[in-house]
Amino acid sequence: MSNNTFADLADLADFAHKPVLTGERALLRPFTEADAITMAGIIEDPEVVRYTFEPSDEFTLEGLRAWYGSRSDQTDRLDLAVTDRTTGLLVGEVVLHDWNPYARSCSFRTLIGPQGRGRGLGTEATRLIVAYGFERIGLHRIQLEVYSHNHRARRVYEKVGFVEEGTRRQVQLRDGAWLDEKMMSILSHEWDHVRRAKEGV
Ligand SMILES: CC(C)(COP(=O)(O)OP(=O)(O)OC[C@H]1O[C@@H](n2cnc3c(N)ncnc32)[C@H](O)[C@@H]1OP(=O)(O)O)[C@@H](O)C(=O)NCCC(=O)NCCS
Repeated sequence: MSNNTFADLADLADFAHKPVLTGERALLRPFTEADAITMAGIIEDPEVVRYTFEPSDEFTLEGLRAWYGSRSDQTDRLDLAVTDRTTGLLVGEVVLHDWNPYARSCSFRTLIGPQGRGRGLGTEATRLIVAYGFERIGLHRIQLEVYSHNHRARRVYEKVGFVEEGTRRQVQLRDGAWLDEKMMSILSHEWDHVRRAKEGV
């Protein structure tokens, strides 16, 4: 059970600062309104649609401009653009949202478009924002949901250190088939362990 007091909470960092996070292959940076057009193409990509958005979700370019143009003003979540360092191209996004400062928890989600997939960018981008959440914001828990049949995403999350917590059965009907969803999470001490193992400490 958390022993957080309001005084403790005042000491916690929030998401007002939007960082640039640099890895070997990916550079994560804050969004601007100008990213909307590229993100519109990524969001419409059939694989992204298949594994992320609800069939009823509708996007307009105007709506996306307002959305990406306002990400840097949000103090309770972190939306970062994933760019490919070799080309400088915007290829997707990683997001920490649903922040609960009392439980020190956040939800995570990501989508990488066809120009970025399958080259390690998604794994690195996930690691970078998870590291930021634990090491800079002081999170205790990061959770996510992923369709059971999304084997690539599940592999990425396992590589980063997320642990499966259970299955939400038949959460959605798509193309006549019921889909299950896996719940996964990683805790701060588990992240410490992953980080130390990677650094050989
Ligand atoms: C899931 C996603 C973020 C992964 O990013 P990515 O850059 O493509 O992934 P990476 O290249 O970093 O790593 C993919 C890993 O999955 C493995 N993989 C690929 N296809 C796989 C499959 N069908 N089954 C199991 N593993 C698979 C790769 O071999 C690699 O693992 P390895 O490094 O051990 O070889 C990205 O593909 C994506 O956004 N897809 C569409 C939207 C989506 O699924 N979002 C997540 C919703 S929860």
